[in-house]
Amino acid sequence: MTNDNSELAFLEQQAKIRHSIEVAITHQFAPKDEGLRYALTAAKQAGLPQIQISPIQGKLLQLLAVACNAQKILEIGSLGGYSGIWLARALPPNGRLISLEINPTNANLARNAFTKAGVSDRAEVRVGKALDLLPQLLSEAPFDLTFIDADKPPYPQYLEWALRLGRPGSIIVADNCVRSGKAFEEPEDEGMAGMVAYNRRISSDVRLMSLVLAMDDDYTDGFAISVVKR
Ligand code: DHB
Ligand code: MG
Repeated sequence: MTNDNSELAFLEQQAKIRHSIEVAITHQFAPKDEGLRYALTAAKQAGLPQIQISPIQGKLLQLLAVACNAQKILEIGSLGGYSGIWLARALPPNGRLISLEINPTNANLARNAFTKAGVSDRAEVRVGKALDLLPQLLSEAPFDLTFIDADKPPYPQYLEWALRLGRPGSIIVADNCVRSGKAFEEPEDEGMAGMVAYNRRISSDVRLMSLVLAMDDDYTDGFAISVVKR
């Protein structure tokens, strides 16, 4: 009993420490501004699920975009435009973000968010099923960075497209590749099967160097980051 209690107290303390680390890093390296705040508020008011990436994840996307000197970025899944703002802000003035979104309401929210954040000159939302829109992007390739954060079952197909639309040195990031550890086990459903297959492919594909990081706001989910080898 006493042991259980002290173990519980220890775990609570650990969770508090993790949270304060998250808050401190966010405050120092990924602070909110009006554009980001607007995107979050508008998405919430429109009833979108609160599943956008964390500010630290947004900053990491920016850092990766700058590291590969991204001029063209592809995003699969716009949601309310929050991650798109982080990505678009990493582009030079003549750079281009193309964000694909299946839901027209979300697409409009994302466009509005891009306008409010001052990136609508370089960020565009295309509405439709990603697997229908991706072949049309061949003429606009190569993309220096692709960010996958859409429906989960086709993640392996999105990866194939990211490779086809990329170049040596391109970076491919996918959200939700930890899933409390379920993304590394035998899958229980179709969504998880997509993530499990995605992780297996990026860890074994000789064209890629990859790593999955637990790095969301409670360290139970995170990005898979892959670099297309030169
Ligand atoms: C879900 C999707 C996401 O992209 C995410 O980051 C979290 C949850 C979902 O579909 O439940
Ligand atoms: Mg996600």
